[in-house]
Amino acid sequence: MEVVTEQKIALIEDDPVVRHTTQQWLDLAGFDVQSFETAETALGSIKDNSFCAIVSDVRLPGQSGLDLMQQVKAVNPSIPIVLITGHGDVDMAVKALQKGAFDFIEKPFEPERLSDTISQAIAHYQSSKHWKSRQHYLKNLQGMEQTLIGQSAVMKELREQIHKVANIDTHVIIYGDTGCGKEVVAQCLHQYSLRSKHAFVPVNCGAIPETLFESELFGHEIGAFTGAAKKRVGKLEFADKGTLFFDEIESMPAAMQVKVLRVIQENTVERVGSNQSHHVNLRIISAAKSPLLNHPEFRQDLFYRLNVAQLYLPPLKEREEDALLLFDHFTQQANSNTRRASRADQDALLSYHWPGNVRELRNVAMRFALDDSVTVGEILSSQPTTPNPTKQQGVSLAIQMQSFEKKVLHECLNRHHGCISDVMQELDLPRRTLNQKMLKYALSRSDYID
Ligand SMILES: Nc1ncnc2c1ncn2[C@@H]1O[C@H](COP(=O)(O)OP(=O)(O)OP(=O)(O)O)[C@@H](O)[C@H]1O
Ligand SMILES: [Mg+2]
Repeated sequence: MEVVTEQKIALIEDDPVVRHTTQQWLDLAGFDVQSFETAETALGSIKDNSFCAIVSDVRLPGQSGLDLMQQVKAVNPSIPIVLITGHGDVDMAVKALQKGAFDFIEKPFEPERLSDTISQAIAHYQSSKHWKSRQHYLKNLQGMEQTLIGQSAVMKELREQIHKVANIDTHVIIYGDTGCGKEVVAQCLHQYSLRSKHAFVPVNCGAIPETLFESELFGHEIGAFTGAAKKRVGKLEFADKGTLFFDEIESMPAAMQVKVLRVIQENTVERVGSNQSHHVNLRIISAAKSPLLNHPEFRQDLFYRLNVAQLYLPPLKEREEDALLLFDHFTQQANSNTRRASRADQDALLSYHWPGNVRELRNVAMRFALDDSVTVGEILSSQPTTPNPTKQQGVSLAIQMQSFEKKVLHECLNRHHGCISDVMQELDLPRRTLNQKMLKYALSRSDYID
């Protein structure tokens, strides 16, 4: 789906002086403006061109701005239209909004009010185009994308790597922070390998008490130890011909590391309390949060056995385009009456640093989908992991820069009581950049006017 990235707008105004000055102002504000004298001359171009907003006077010779709006909406219902009405023409303004105008502006108007409104209209339009494009992507998921969702370049590359590695029957280590999707990657490796008809057996090394580890992995015979009332097949045997997934392998007790190494070397397993060996054919996929060689207690010989191929999952913060996509996916999973994230919700999603990665995002999306009255910002500020603003440790440089930028803009807008040209001058910012930043940080000029 085409996504409009340029700020291309059509301006329709019959008065040559007003048209010329408005065009000049909007050009200066950074918009790419094409102006027209009448609705009739504008219509052909609007249908052929990818404008992302239309600004039209209501009273025009020939067809009116309202007629123009109706015709444009018939072809492209989502394009935002800002109408300029005569002073005090309240009836007309109400009618325009009812018929689907994005907003109306009364003559005479402050040029800043017009450019602010156009910026909002464009942001709204683009956000709705992006939403449609994400919906299209989610409805047409194919193959591995159905399980491992993501449109970012790193996720596309990762899926290709998984396809390649899945077919080479070697052991693999997956690195990535908590909640990044390491287990999803391990499942994909299994699903797309020749072992897929056999079991995928996850073992969370961080969650098994040390005393139970051996019996969990190797199984036991009746009476092998106190409490062993029944014979039990261990995970290693269970994973025979399939895939064994060691999650948090860095937490595997030292004594177990020696035993697992022996299993890899000899391809045999002995249940606790038995002398009989069972042959096993295993593929071991391990997951760790940080390089295993940085863990002095992790045996190097085991590491070199397991480390035949490696895959790396970047944190969610490094693949921001996936955050909105995954958010839409999880809200739809939680509630089919999809609640759509507003612009403010999206900004909150994009400026958060996601210490819990995709798992945390999924939980936020679930809460959002199930409670119509709560915003993403409110959910995030109640997250236990939200960093304390006075304690910036662990917050990425980009996030700290953004929060600083927002603070500077807020203070400057406050000092100049919302006068945009003074803020532009003090901060030496072009209007377009300032508009974009104000939108990004949800700063509204009206909040600063006395
Ligand atoms: N790319 C993705 N597409 C769809 N769902 C995902 C994706 N990545 C993660 N998830 C979902 O996010 C949650 C956490 O993923 P997973 O359990 O694989 O993370 P992990 O890296 O193994 O976490 P941990 O380090 O805590 O073990 C799961 O519900 C998983 O289904
Ligand atoms: Mg995991």
